[in-house]
Amino acid sequence: MCGIVGYIGKRDSVPLIVEGLRRLEYRGYDSAGVAVLAGDRVFIAKKAGKVADLQAMLDTGPVSGTLGIGHTRWATHGEPTDVNAHPHTDCNGTIVVIHNGVIENFRALKTTLMRDGHTFTSETDTEVVAHLIEEIRKEVSDLGEAVRLALLQLEGTYGLVVMSAENPEMFVAARKGSPLVIGYGEGENIVASDASAIVEHTRTVTYLEDGQMAIVRRDGVSIRTLDDAEIPKAVEHISFDVEQIEKGGFDHFMLKEISEQPETIRNAMRGRLLVERGEVVLGGLQPVRDKLFDAQRIILIGCGTSWHAGLVGEYMLEQIAKIPTEVEYASEFRYRNPLLGPRDVVFLISQSGETADTLAALREAKKRGATVLGIVNVVGSTIARESEAGVYIHAGPEIGVASTKAFTSQLTVLSLITLLLARGRGMAAQDAVVLTRELDAIPAKVKSILENAARIREIAREFKDADHFLYLGRGANFPVALEGALKLKEISYIHAEGYPAAEMKHGPIALIDERMPVVFIAPKDAIYDKVVSNIQEVKARKGRIIAIANEDDQDIESMAEFVIRVPRTYGFFGPILNVVPLQLLSYFIAVARGTNVDQPRNLAKSVTVE
Ligand code: F6R
Repeated sequence: MCGIVGYIGKRDSVPLIVEGLRRLEYRGYDSAGVAVLAGDRVFIAKKAGKVADLQAMLDTGPVSGTLGIGHTRWATHGEPTDVNAHPHTDCNGTIVVIHNGVIENFRALKTTLMRDGHTFTSETDTEVVAHLIEEIRKEVSDLGEAVRLALLQLEGTYGLVVMSAENPEMFVAARKGSPLVIGYGEGENIVASDASAIVEHTRTVTYLEDGQMAIVRRDGVSIRTLDDAEIPKAVEHISFDVEQIEKGGFDHFMLKEISEQPETIRNAMRGRLLVERGEVVLGGLQPVRDKLFDAQRIILIGCGTSWHAGLVGEYMLEQIAKIPTEVEYASEFRYRNPLLGPRDVVFLISQSGETADTLAALREAKKRGATVLGIVNVVGSTIARESEAGVYIHAGPEIGVASTKAFTSQLTVLSLITLLLARGRGMAAQDAVVLTRELDAIPAKVKSILENAARIREIAREFKDADHFLYLGRGANFPVALEGALKLKEISYIHAEGYPAAEMKHGPIALIDERMPVVFIAPKDAIYDKVVSNIQEVKARKGRIIAIANEDDQDIESMAEFVIRVPRTYGFFGPILNVVPLQLLSYFIAVARGTNVDQPRNLAKSVTVE
């Protein structure tokens, strides 16, 4: 959610931190701030608004220093104002804190600290941490130790960084529930909430684990547990390039990511799909192969778009692999007291691998004895590390807040898992080859849909002023309707609902009049005729129909006002194709309405708080 950068070294920290914040801005963007040690005092600049507003503020009063920390905020406690922006300080501006997460016991701590004479300036939970460290430092002068003792009193979640005007040689970083990664350089070290703020400086990193803190100096980093035991550093390498987190000539990250899908879908199957043998190899699931093949039930868990991917997965797994499958919202699952046993296999689906609810669901499922596996994009993320095994979707960094390429890669991986299980449960090789060949053809078919973007842009212009949209689909395309509606509301702020097409008669049909755009996902599959009946029902009530239909469907033109063509495919791979025009439709409508496509209001890329 919020973005964190901390630097100590020989360079001026300010431009490096601001550039890092710019790269992290997709995580949270309602305010931003920096703190720099300039001489023997800490200089702070912070502001509600974007990193560009902070940059403009810094341009008017330049400051420099080789130790600094910075933050982009997504408000949890207190409105996005200048005062509530991070960094926050103790009473006299010596101890400075930036924080991602929620301190659940901040009210109790604040009451005690105020009674002890501390003066608070913001409404945030974070400020309490600075005052708590100030209080502890009355007895314990060592900064690292004072931070450790403060952390022991905090309830809730944090990824935080603390610096002090009295300690020009170090800062402290700590993690519980919110990711932090430490990058190692020559005579300099950087901490950030994700690797995209670090990759242009170094690719050698350590991902802090929950319950760990780091003392970061120019010439080295020591990592300790909160019990004060020093532990060896687990050093890893960042696997992506800086180009992957640039817009690369596109107007928006979202359009770049939509356009990348032929490649990202291919990457999800690369080395895993043995087309002519009708086989799938998923090395990441090898350690749990027996448990997977012995599973009595599969449970797919995620949030938002990842949950939609799970809904499609349910159709695939039940129909093709013939295994009972359920899909759960992570946020509901964790509080539902779910019945789980050792023969249940739970897949956690998450682009970021850091979503708080999905992570909590993982831990709950693990506690109850199920096998927990990840379908994750971000390599080294918490869900990936805490899963027993899993499959990376290899979509590369997704920066646009609205998820696009991750969705189609999640569907691709779910298709692979389905095929793996289907073969393991007796599907004949010649039947499987039909499916593996079709999956192999999907990237080229996505490419052909993208070539039709101009037509979708025209349709978007026609509907840019609509107040509402309905998306209808059946079978595995019902989740696609949900995803189409979610994309539209996220970035264009148009109210949109997705429904199973036949359910329309049970309520939403009351909404239909000559101003209601209705998007039908209507491929020529086994239930095409049923969808056509639903189209007729909308047409009879003068709804404005946009149909996603196959290239060889001649009848649709007479029923729909607008038709967007997609190639034919085998039914259960259809969602991978059908969602692409819906992504483009939302994108072009949002652009036509002039919204901030990559950073829509109120949203954050990775929801690391409950
Ligand atoms: C929608 C979107 C969100 C995420 C959801 C889960 O465009 O991006 O709905 O899908 O917050 O995030 P991950 O997949 O990172 O767990």
